[in-house]
Amino acid sequence: MSVTAVIGGQWGDEGKGKIVDLMAETAALVVRFSGGDNAGHTVINPRGEFALHLVPSGIFYPRVLAVIGNGVAINPRVLLDEIAKLKRCGIDTGNLVLSSRAHIIMPYHVLLDGLEEKARGKNAIGTTGRGIGPVFADKIARLGIRVVDLLSPDSFRDRLAPILEQKNALLTRIYCAAPLSFDDVFEEYVQFGRELSPYVRETEVLIDQALEQGKNVLLEGAQGALLDPDFGSYPYVTSSSPLIGGAALGAGIDPRKIKHVIGVYKAYTTRVGGGPMPTELLDETGNLIRERAREYGTTTGRPRRCGWFDAVAGSFACRISGFTGVAITRLDILDAMPKVKICIGYEIDGTRVERFPVGLATLAQCKPIYAEMPGWMSPIAEVRRYEELPREARHFLAELEEAIGRPIVLVSVGARREQTVRIRNLD
Ligand code: GDP
Ligand code: IMO
Ligand code: MG
Repeated sequence: MSVTAVIGGQWGDEGKGKIVDLMAETAALVVRFSGGDNAGHTVINPRGEFALHLVPSGIFYPRVLAVIGNGVAINPRVLLDEIAKLKRCGIDTGNLVLSSRAHIIMPYHVLLDGLEEKARGKNAIGTTGRGIGPVFADKIARLGIRVVDLLSPDSFRDRLAPILEQKNALLTRIYCAAPLSFDDVFEEYVQFGRELSPYVRETEVLIDQALEQGKNVLLEGAQGALLDPDFGSYPYVTSSSPLIGGAALGAGIDPRKIKHVIGVYKAYTTRVGGGPMPTELLDETGNLIRERAREYGTTTGRPRRCGWFDAVAGSFACRISGFTGVAITRLDILDAMPKVKICIGYEIDGTRVERFPVGLATLAQCKPIYAEMPGWMSPIAEVRRYEELPREARHFLAELEEAIGRPIVLVSVGARREQTVRIRNLD
């Protein structure tokens, strides 16, 4: 029995979907534990190419139970559409279950996400517009609607009425927007409840039973450590914790049972949305990375901001998330670079800083200090063994490993499942 978590080490989109699809081979359960449909996880395997937003990336193995845990915010329409899309591609979703405790994204959450962003003007966070901030705010404010509520129309009616009254007051009086009709929202969401009911379970019990039976559980992170509301570049963050602490809570699992924590990092850095990014490259190199890697958001299609690997941020992410091992993805994207760089420190007003700053203004002032090394200038997408990687690529990986502070267990050299170089086995 072993519990392994796969966690993003940067600002999201590190390639967690690919790594989970690969590692799910030996898992009995794959559990999403945080975020919502702000996540976009790309999986390319023998069944096809998929962009998953809510369904765990273990869905492609019929013997894997794909669990959407209590910590995930559910937009029912998005989930039902995703299930329908998978079915059309011949993927059986009979192995999908959804926590009765998960919170529901309501229409006012999506509306308020957009209105709040507009009101922020030039300080907009650049959210995905999926209602994530408002739904998690309501969860903590005890104003949430949960999956279980949708299954009992009478109690749902009583729960929704005062909440919708408050939200309509907010929509009309603060934002001068149109109110939502109680009947429309109620009817639509009761119907969603009917359609989702076959999937609903007390998932924490299923996970516990699986562990009792000695099965392997894989926890699938969403977003990345630097988007964590406590430790990320606040307020330019998301609204649920992508860290290992969030995994224990969002799956309902005893944290002491989590054995391996694999931090996923790209061989460079990307960020989508606003907020400081010290290694951002606003030049030809940044454009080259974006175009070579087609760095456009899986969820929103927005161009991702690109830059060199930031090991100050990366080692911080590693420590707060307790990574036991590291997966490096998209190494192949650097094939075309005559020189490759790793940011090993920041400089602020002539002073060297080696810690990820707390204050946003300080982070915005950080100028990267780089270690520079020769690139390998040859294609590595077909390499499957570490020894076959060019010497310069191995040197770059050794420098990354040193800078992050944990062993690299695998390297991804292409988007497909098999385009992977395994370096160490997890025991
Ligand atoms: P996630 O949100 O962490 O699952 O990552 P995304 O799916 O949003 O973005 C990662 C992108 O990189 C996707 O388009 C993947 O297909 C792609 N990808 C993953 N690993 C590799 C790799 O090693 N090489 C290349 N070229 N693409 C990769
Ligand atoms: P995956 O799981 C990259 C970013 C948004 C925005 C900020 C807040 O695919 O790695 P939100 O909609 O969550 O309120 O937006 O967080 N963001 C992500 N960036 N990958 C993601 O998920 C993200 N989920 C949220 O772009 O900057
Ligand atoms: Mg993504």
